[in-house]
Order: sequence, then structure tokens, then C-alpha cells
Amino acid sequence: MKTSEKPHAAVQTRELSSGRLMCGDVLDALAVLPEAAFQAIIADPPYYQVLVDQEWDQGWASPDAYLEWTIEWVRACRRTLRPDGLLFVFGQHGKREHVWLHVCSRLAIEMQFHDLLVWDRMVGYNERSDSFTPQYEMILVLRQPGCEKPYFNKDAVRVPYDEATIRTYLRDKRYKDMAARETHLRKGRYATNILRVPSLKGISREKCGHPSQKPEALIHALISSSTHPGDSVLDPFLGSGTTAAVARRLDRRWVGIEKNPDYVEMAAQRLDTLI
Ligand SMILES: C[S@@+](CC[C@H](N)C(=O)[O-])C[C@H]1O[C@@H](n2cnc3c(N)ncnc32)[C@H](O)[C@@H]1O
Repeated sequence: MKTSEKPHAAVQTRELSSGRLMCGDVLDALAVLPEAAFQAIIADPPYYQVLVDQEWDQGWASPDAYLEWTIEWVRACRRTLRPDGLLFVFGQHGKREHVWLHVCSRLAIEMQFHDLLVWDRMVGYNERSDSFTPQYEMILVLRQPGCEKPYFNKDAVRVPYDEATIRTYLRDKRYKDMAARETHLRKGRYATNILRVPSLKGISREKCGHPSQKPEALIHALISSSTHPGDSVLDPFLGSGTTAAVARRLDRRWVGIEKNPDYVEMAAQRLDTLI
């Protein structure tokens, strides 16, 4: 992929066979990417004071400052998104501030609201004594203003029925052509907007050592449904390289931006050892 301008002095770029690693600040790196280049953008930004021991989750003086920064990088991402592309933004409620709710309402004006997915982590993290144990994160999905129909392939994210369910459904006497019914059932059901994917444990084979690493199965669902093979995917907060690893397996091109050189190295090594 060509850059739109000359490279930014503060951004180190490394070309790999399937994509590009950019080490630097998200706004600097986005400024040199071309317009309308990406079919999907998977953004898993700092959450604002959720990970209290991570310096990269603390860098704003107030929730308003975080909100303004969020709007700035979303605008910059929007420029690089194809007219029928989707932008996925991860978020969750913080422990002290409810900034995610404001992020959702502001970004729904900034772009066009498309969906709000729930990532059910399938295990609670026991950090509240004053309410239910939190178990989910959210993924806000935005499309370009004026876009009536973004690209989305529901067939790419079907969930198979188990054999017992198929056998039960095949007893349904309303259907005359049971062979056709079985073919239909074997395609599986459409995935709902509640994505049930276990969060990674310390001992998970996928785990690289990043404190907020997302499971590949979750990113797989987003990329496979929102892009064609050969399309380009952008991750403006690459972390350990999950988006890049999944994009490469799915034969998509990718660009990943990450400001911490240690995480850039983690992602490069992950891609190096990918089978
Ligand atoms: C929530 S983590 C992303 C984790 C990633 N999805 C994964 O699976 O490994 C957010 C990442 O954004 C990076 N980051 C924070 N501020 C940034 C900035 N201004 N520019 C670029 N990267 C930034 C952090 O270093 C961190 O690795």
C-alpha cells in the first residue's frame, strides 16, 4: 500500500509479507495512510482507567480529554475507511467513570451508528462488590455517514448446530423435503450480535504477554464478516498483533499501528512464528 504523504518522522514503519507494522502515535501514523483504503478497521483503544496498572490507559487529565482524543482518532480513521466499510470500536465501562457511554453517543453522531455488539467473555472478573460481576465488553460498530448498506457477509459467521439438534429439527413434520432441510441445517445458524468467545487465560496457547490481548476467534468473526479475501484491514492500536495474525490467516492485507516498541516487537515475533 502506498502512503498518501511522505513518511512521518516519528513513525517507524516495517513492511512484512502480509502487511505493515507502524510504530508510533496513532494520529501521526494515520496521517500518512491513504484515504478510503481499508474495508474494516478494528480499534481496541485504551479504555480510560480500566487497566489501572497500565500507563497507556491513564494518559488523560479528565474523561472529557479522553473523549476529545477519541473523536480525533475516529475522524482520522474515518478518512481511511472505504465508503462501504465498517469501523469496530472496543469499549467497556470503567471502574470510576462512565466515559464509554459518552463515547458511544458522540461517535454515533460523528459517524453513522450501525450496531453494538456484546462480547461475552464467558467468565466474570470479580472486581465489583456493589453490583453484578462484569462479564462482557462492547464493540460499537460504525459506518460512513450516508452509507445505506455496508459490506457484511452473514454466511461467513454461521454457527454450526450440533448433531443432536439437527436430528431433533429433522423430526419437524412441517418440512416435506428433508434432504433440503438437512442441507440447510448443516450450514448452521446466523451468529447473533452476542459473541460468545472465552477471554484468554494466562496459560492460553495464543497468549503473548500483552495485558489486554483479544482472542483470535473474536477478531476472526469481525474480519471474516466485514471483508473479502484480499481486502485491507487497519488496526490503529495493534497491541500484540491479534488483528494482523487473523488477517494474515484469512488472506487479508493489514496495517497495524502501535506506539509501544515492545508490543511492536511482540507482534512481529508472533507473525514470524505464525503457521
Ligand atoms: C487495548 S490494547 C490493544 C490490544 C490488542 N487488541 C491485542 O489483541 O493485543 C491498546 C494498545 O494501544 C496502544 N496505544 C495506546 N495509546 C496509543 C497511541 N496514542 N498510539 C498508538 N498506540 C497506542 C497501547 O500500547 C496498547 O498496546
